[in-house]
Amino acid sequence: LSQENQNILDASEWVAKLYHHVLRYTKNGEDGYHYLRERGITDETIRTFQLGFAPNVKDFTAEFLAKKGFHQQHLAKAGLISVNDDNTLVDNFQGRVIFPIRNHLGKTIAFGGRTLFEQDPKYLNSPQNDLFHKGKILYNFDLAKKQIRKQAEAVLFEGYMDVIAAHQAGVENAVATLGTSLTESQARLLRRYVDTVVICYDADAAGTDAAYKASETLRKAGCHVKIANLTENMDPDDYITEYGAESFRQNVIASSMTFTSFYMQYLKRDFNLSVESDRIQYIENVLKHLATIDSAVEREYYLKEVSEAYSVSMDSLLNEIQANREKMG
Ligand code: CTP
Ligand code: MN
Ligand code: MN
Ligand code: MN
Ligand code: MN
Repeated sequence: LSQENQNILDASEWVAKLYHHVLRYTKNGEDGYHYLRERGITDETIRTFQLGFAPNVKDFTAEFLAKKGFHQQHLAKAGLISVNDDNTLVDNFQGRVIFPIRNHLGKTIAFGGRTLFEQDPKYLNSPQNDLFHKGKILYNFDLAKKQIRKQAEAVLFEGYMDVIAAHQAGVENAVATLGTSLTESQARLLRRYVDTVVICYDADAAGTDAAYKASETLRKAGCHVKIANLTENMDPDDYITEYGAESFRQNVIASSMTFTSFYMQYLKRDFNLSVESDRIQYIENVLKHLATIDSAVEREYYLKEVSEAYSVSMDSLLNEIQANREKMG
């Protein structure tokens, strides 16, 4: 590790502690603390995730770290402060609830900050540098990996608050990508630990598209994919707030659907199923996917569903799928 990177790591560690202290024990942090408590986050969870608050004071962080002997340029590189044209320093995360981002060894390497005041962007993340590559990190992987191994399953979320709410609800094998699509590198990381990944993204159009893309990436990496059964237009954190931990575990995570069920549903978006020719095309697309399933029992299970839903004989479906499989070789 270069001296500069070591300094950035050290500064990040200090800042995480500082912001956490501010949130828990000082007047400056009250807004952040009350915000989290109002969202149902307990003191214990605040401690587990070392959540913090960056006070609404322009040079709070810079002053503190200068006293500790850290250099301006390192703090700027870590994205904690900016140096203005007139050479004054300003805290980048001012007025935001802080989510320290740790690497897989548990070292804090970056921060996410959520505004309390509808500022844009809603979430500010540290800039990428030698230590922090968004596409290589999974939020909370360091804490979750024990449970991920134990349960032989990981649950993948979109964001900080989803992971934290899930963890608090007893789903501790929870990780998240941070506002970007899942990369091959993240998929490979998960694959090293588990066979099965449950995707629990926001149940809106964007989240569903992202879930489909993440499925493809995970399947290519050799993971078995399931999709959580979330109520339409909610995100996991909303669901837990509304229906509670028990229901989240039973009705959302444990009731996850197979990738095939999800895909058969998802594909419908591209077709107008009240039009006959579309319906036929839809069925043919479903069959193309079903042909890739190796288990004959599993194939027949879904074929039956198609057969009943669209009144096509099992014989012709089986014939078509056989033809598809032969084409695949
Ligand atoms: N995100 C980001 N930058 C943004 C918006 C979102 O990096 N401007 C990332 C964050 O990691 C966020 C995730 O994308 O957690 C999911 O975004 P969204 O669903 O909009 O936020 P929530 O996690 O639901 O946040 P909240 O409940 O606090 O509104
Ligand atoms: Mn108070
Ligand atoms: Mn969203
Ligand atoms: Mn969301
Ligand atoms: Mn949310």
